[in-house]
Amino acid sequence: RLKEGLEIPEWFSYPNVVAELRRSHPPKHKQGLTIFFTGLSGSGKSTVANVLLARFREIGGRPVTLLDGDIVRQHLSSELGFSREHRNLNVRRIGFVASEITKNGGIAICAPIAPYRHVREENRELIEGYGGFIEVHVKTPLEVCEARDRKGLYAKARAGQIKEFTGIDDPYEEPVDPEVAIDTSDLTPMEAAQEVLLHLEKAGYLR
Ligand code: PPS
Repeated sequence: RLKEGLEIPEWFSYPNVVAELRRSHPPKHKQGLTIFFTGLSGSGKSTVANVLLARFREIGGRPVTLLDGDIVRQHLSSELGFSREHRNLNVRRIGFVASEITKNGGIAICAPIAPYRHVREENRELIEGYGGFIEVHVKTPLEVCEARDRKGLYAKARAGQIKEFTGIDDPYEEPVDPEVAIDTSDLTPMEAAQEVLLHLEKAGYLR
């Protein structure tokens, strides 16, 4: 019941309210979203993220942007090192850009190491205000990443030539309850990307 004296606006009717709610809360397959990869160096984040990028381009619809760890560090975070403070600043910047993309209905794929849980959670909180946030833990074990050592950085870290290297002499805090967890030890990049797509489909982010 309405309070006495309260005017009902002319536009008010149940169908109007439903239409307004639909406009402000589009279905998940029309919302922006962020897919946030996290994992050790060499775990396969970039490779899987690139496969996913290509798949989204094929699917079409929402514009898709890849914010890869290495690329972001060349441009957006070129002055930063690998201290806890600098890593957190880097990951917050990535989160901010992803939130803008998500707000505007795009798909942001992020692939930094992002070793600290509380900053990943901060990003989740920010981005969930605008659309979807899907954390993908690329949980390939350290032994496998180190055996791959594609960039030769693990060897340098073991030799003490690189300090504060994640997994060697710097921490990595594992996600507690990620939306997706993949181990690329015995998955092809295609199969790993498929796991992410399967989750998105089940959760309603794909048509
Ligand atoms: S972070 O922690 O999220 O800010 O790291 P990120 O921006 O993803 O950068 C990781 C890439 O930088 C290279 N690199 C290092 N990684 C970890 N620790 C140290 N000390 C380090 N120094 C250089 C490394 O190539 C990482 O690339 P990926 O693609 O993860 O292998």
